[in-house]
Amino acid sequence: MILIAAAIAAALGISACGYGEQGLAVKQSEPTYNGAVLFAQHCSGCHTLTAAGTQGSGNRGERTQGPNLDQREESPEDVMFAIQNGGFSGAIMPQNIVVGKEAEEVAEFVAKYAGANAKEASRPGQKTGPPPP
Ligand code: HEC
Repeated sequence: MILIAAAIAAALGISACGYGEQGLAVKQSEPTYNGAVLFAQHCSGCHTLTAAGTQGSGNRGERTQGPNLDQREESPEDVMFAIQNGGFSGAIMPQNIVVGKEAEEVAEFVAKYAGANAKEASRPGQKTGPPPP
């Protein structure tokens, strides 16, 4: 019953939970759970990703707003690249917000859930790596 209510609330766009971990769609038993928590803690300020409960961000519309990851498919390699280099352009996103095992966990999580709302392969050439400089 609670689940149904939650589904209806989600469908209507009503969400009692704001930003952060509360809205995690990943169960604690799933291997990507840690990555989801880390994403909610470190990345949610700039990126929308429903699976992490980050449906909107406080700075939407500002220049620091990162791509909506519900609409982008990402491979683990791409996410690692973005984490280590600060996005694909290196301009706005801080580098190495998470490192080592945590970075890998975030990359696994993002790669698994990103692109849930992608209508088609987002942009040719974007899926396999960063665009040429
Ligand atoms: C200060 C805001 C900010 C934070 C925090 C941030 N990002 Fe970003 N991110 C951006 C911006 C802006 C871009 C787009 C510009 C670029 O690619 O350089 C981006 C790009 C990306 C991309 C490339 C998306 C694409 O397909 O173009 C990925 C993947 C990504 N971020 C993942 C993460 C992860 C994972 C974290 C947490 C460890 C994170 N970001 C934290 C702002 C942020």
